[in-house]
Amino acid sequence: MDYKSEIAVKLSEVTGLELDQINKLIEIPPQVDMGDYAFPCFALAKTMHKAPQMISQELKESGKLDLPFLSEVKNVGPYLNFFIDRGVYAYDTVTEINNLKDDYGKDNMGDGKTVIVEFSSPNIAKPFHVGHAFTTIIGNSLSKIYDKLGYKVVKMNHLGDYGTQFGKLITAYRLWGDEEALNKAPIDELLRIYVKFHEEEKNDPSLTDSARENFKKLEDGCEEEVALWQKFRDMSLVVFNELYDRMGVTFDNYNGESYYAKMADQVVGMLKEKGLLVESEGAQVVDLEEYGVPPCIILKSDGTTIYGTRDIAAILYRYENYHFDKNIYVVGTPQALHFKQVFSVLKKAGYDFADNCEHVGFGLVKFKNMKFSTRDGNIVLLEDLINESVAKTREVIVENSKTRGVEMSEEEISEIAEKVGLGAVIYTYVKSGRERDIVFSWEEMLDFEGDTAPYLIYTYARTKSILRKALEQGIKPSQAGSDSLKFLNSDEEYQLVRSLNDFPGSIVKAMNSNEPFMISRQISTCARNFNRFYNNSSILGADTQELKEARLALCEALCNTLKAGLDLLGIGVVERM
Ligand code: ARG
Repeated sequence: MDYKSEIAVKLSEVTGLELDQINKLIEIPPQVDMGDYAFPCFALAKTMHKAPQMISQELKESGKLDLPFLSEVKNVGPYLNFFIDRGVYAYDTVTEINNLKDDYGKDNMGDGKTVIVEFSSPNIAKPFHVGHAFTTIIGNSLSKIYDKLGYKVVKMNHLGDYGTQFGKLITAYRLWGDEEALNKAPIDELLRIYVKFHEEEKNDPSLTDSARENFKKLEDGCEEEVALWQKFRDMSLVVFNELYDRMGVTFDNYNGESYYAKMADQVVGMLKEKGLLVESEGAQVVDLEEYGVPPCIILKSDGTTIYGTRDIAAILYRYENYHFDKNIYVVGTPQALHFKQVFSVLKKAGYDFADNCEHVGFGLVKFKNMKFSTRDGNIVLLEDLINESVAKTREVIVENSKTRGVEMSEEEISEIAEKVGLGAVIYTYVKSGRERDIVFSWEEMLDFEGDTAPYLIYTYARTKSILRKALEQGIKPSQAGSDSLKFLNSDEEYQLVRSLNDFPGSIVKAMNSNEPFMISRQISTCARNFNRFYNNSSILGADTQELKEARLALCEALCNTLKAGLDLLGIGVVERM
């Protein structure tokens, strides 16, 4: 229920102030005893020629603001404090949630608008490490968020599948490649020969020439070189897709840099025609002084294009094909300047949609007391992190089921461990603002009582088991719209209802700031409030049948909200654990 809007409409009617302005002025008081919403009357002083204190008092006394869902309107100094009737609050909120279920929080504000979310974008033939997980997880969550709010979402994976390194790989593969090894573990094999190439190259400069030649052939579309490149690309994608499947991540488009490389000529032509290309140390660049950033290189001195040129081509392609209202890039913060340059080039070339392109950055991934068999340098593979998390979660689940005497099949244990272990990894990426660095530690991420996915999933599963137990005793939750929901008016119930009611707003906030953590924070608050309520009030032992049923409906509302929220983060739930 959007009480704020209704209060705003009423205030506007009574005071004559613009609705827009009122909406901006309404506050959420810091303390519960100051009500659910507050309106400061200062803005009315000018038009009403009175002191704000007096206005506040008169408005309250007029009784004109007494809306049916309010239990009280108080005037405190220049403020009007609005108290929502707790019973009505619970009734409205639980009814809405349990009617909508998984759709709770859905909105149509994005109807007719298209958002491109570019994320993941790994480099082929390279290992998929924990840094790629950051973009993959944030991007996946953002695409779900925009989708929930009614936007048409296009999910793009801008693969790093182009560049001189592929000339090196072709040379290396012809010299040392092992077909069998490639089929078994493609990325390991490609990495092996790539590393070998660099070692051997030190003593054998002919390798450098061969690699350059092969890259040139690749660019010119020579059959054999293209076929090898295609093979590396396809095999890398098989590996990446296994990870994406495991994480429940999908894409609409895998056009990588190679795809846009073909359009680089058009970019160069367009910039030339507009007179924007200038020479600098042999290279062709666009000067961006007026945007406060260094010039953007378009053509290198040897006439080849670079990363940025391909990004410019990609934006033009995206606009032509999707007419996006927003085009967002979930890419690490170190590339902030790169995107600023690319967007500025387009702006300078007169494309206003450059203003609708946005770089969504994120921090670094670090580890506390965690050992992995790192391969090349200090890279930790995402797969290793997930496997380890699942294995550790499994131990906890086996242990818990023993102490609680719960029988679980091997299959069930594996399924739960996979969801919770994977969820624990994902949650660690979305639990704080994305620009903060992440520090992984097993104790923290697998803490069943901390701010973790295991805690949230456990709260969900345990609440589901309460509902099952009730059903066994023949007690069903109150139906949505049942008057008994108005009995949910204790302090704990009220706090919980309030946090559940704030869930849809958190999705909008997450969208506006491209911060999934607005949602993780909200559902984490819901779970805490639920556990406080659960510890203080007996559900099945409530005094009256009606209250039992109402409390069960509140349990259902919590489950629906947690599930909807976790889903937006890319995390699945289990029905029992
Ligand atoms: N492949 C790049 C990397 O792994 C990221 C690509 C980012 N996207 C882009 N449109 N430039 O660093």
